[in-house]
Amino acid sequence: MDEKIFNLDLQQLKDIVFDFRKKLENGLEKDNTEIACLPTFIQPKKGKVNGKSVVLDLGGTNYRVATVDINENGAVIHPENGWKKDLSVMKSPGFSEDDLFKEMADPIYETKRDGEMPIGYCFSYPAESLKDGDAKLLRWTKGVNINEMVDKPVGKPLLDYLNKGTDPKFSNIKIINDTVASLFAGLTKPGYDTYIGLIVGTGTNLAAMMRPDKIKKLKPSDEVDMNALIPINLESGNFFPPHLINIDNIVDEHSDKKGAQRFEKAVSGMYLGEILKASFPLNKFEDKFDAQKLTSMMSYPDVYKEEYVRVARQIYHRSAALVAASLAGLISVLHDHDNSIRKIMLTAEGSLFWSSDKNGPDYKELVTEKLATLLKELGLGDIQVDVNQMPNANLIGTAIAALS
Ligand code: GLC
Repeated sequence: MDEKIFNLDLQQLKDIVFDFRKKLENGLEKDNTEIACLPTFIQPKKGKVNGKSVVLDLGGTNYRVATVDINENGAVIHPENGWKKDLSVMKSPGFSEDDLFKEMADPIYETKRDGEMPIGYCFSYPAESLKDGDAKLLRWTKGVNINEMVDKPVGKPLLDYLNKGTDPKFSNIKIINDTVASLFAGLTKPGYDTYIGLIVGTGTNLAAMMRPDKIKKLKPSDEVDMNALIPINLESGNFFPPHLINIDNIVDEHSDKKGAQRFEKAVSGMYLGEILKASFPLNKFEDKFDAQKLTSMMSYPDVYKEEYVRVARQIYHRSAALVAASLAGLISVLHDHDNSIRKIMLTAEGSLFWSSDKNGPDYKELVTEKLATLLKELGLGDIQVDVNQMPNANLIGTAIAALS
C-alpha cells in the first residue's frame, strides 16, 4: 500500500488548524457543539494549597487510588505512583454502575486515612461541571457504555456509596477531567503567561484557562468570578477534522459510537492499531493491537514485515501532526483573547505522548517541531511553548482541585 496517504502537507495542516479554531470559538458560544468547551467551576485556590485528600483516577482502562498530601515542600503521594488496578472490565456489556462502585471502593477502603478527608476524582470522560464541584456525565467515550450513569452526577452517588461502608467518612467530592488535572499540576510552576493541559494516551483531549468574558455561553446563574480565568475542558477528541481518509472511515465504522470522537480515532492510543489493521484488510493481526504494539514495531522492526513498519511510522507521525495542529488552533485563540501571551506551559500526560521510536524522532519531538512550524506560519513564531513532564501530574492536579 502507499503509506503516503497518511501524510498531511502544510496546507492541509493549516486547514485543520483553522477548522479547529472555528469550532473551538463555536464551542465557547453555544452548548452541544462538536468541540464542547466545558467550563470547570473549580478554580485553584490563589496562594498555597495545603492538606490531604484521597485521589481517584479513572481513565481508559486503568484505575488508580492514592492519598496526596500537599504541603510547603510539594506533594507526597502514597503509595508512590498510586494503587493501580486494571479496570478494562468496565467495557464489558452489562457492566453496571454498582459493579463500577464496587470495583472502585475496594482499594479506597484499603487506603490509610486520618480522619475525614475530601475526595478528588479525576474522571476522564465528558462531564459538565456543576457548581458544587460535582459533574454530570454527558456521554461515555473510549469504549465504555454504562448507560444508567449518563446524565447523572458522577460524584454524589459514589460518595454516598462509599460513606455507607466506611468510617471516618469522606467529607466531600470534586470531579475534574484529566486534562484539567494536568493543567492544574502545571500551575505549580510559576512564570508563564498561560497554561494548557494535554492528554495523548488511550484517548486525547485538551484543556486551557480562558477569560470569562470570552466564554459567551456562560450564564449569570453560573455565578463565575469575572476576574478569574476559567479552566475549559475542550473535549477536542470529538473534533471532526478535514483531510481524514477512507481508512479512518473504516475504523470509525467498526468502532464504538460511530461518527463521534473522529479526531481521537485518528490520534489516540486506543485506535492507532486499528488504523494499521484497516490499512491491510486482507492480513491477519492480533486482536489486541494497541499503540504500544505499534511503537514496539517501529523500535524493533526486524521481526515484522517491512511494509507494516513503514505504515506504522506514518500513522504515528500523522497522529503527532494532528495533535500539533489542534494545539496551534488553541494557541491562536488564546493569543486572540490576550495578545500579551508569549510563554506557555504545556503539561502533557499519556503513554503515547511520552512514547519513543528508537529509529526515529519521538512523539513529543514530532509534536513540538510541527507546532513550531505551524505557529510561525500563523505569525505566532515568537510564542514559546515549554512541554512539562511531571510525574503523577493527574494525581497532583486532582488533589489541588479537592482542596480548592
Ligand atoms: C476522551 C474523553 C476525555 C478525556 C480524554 C483523555 O477523549 O472524552 O474526557 O480527557 O479521553 O483521557
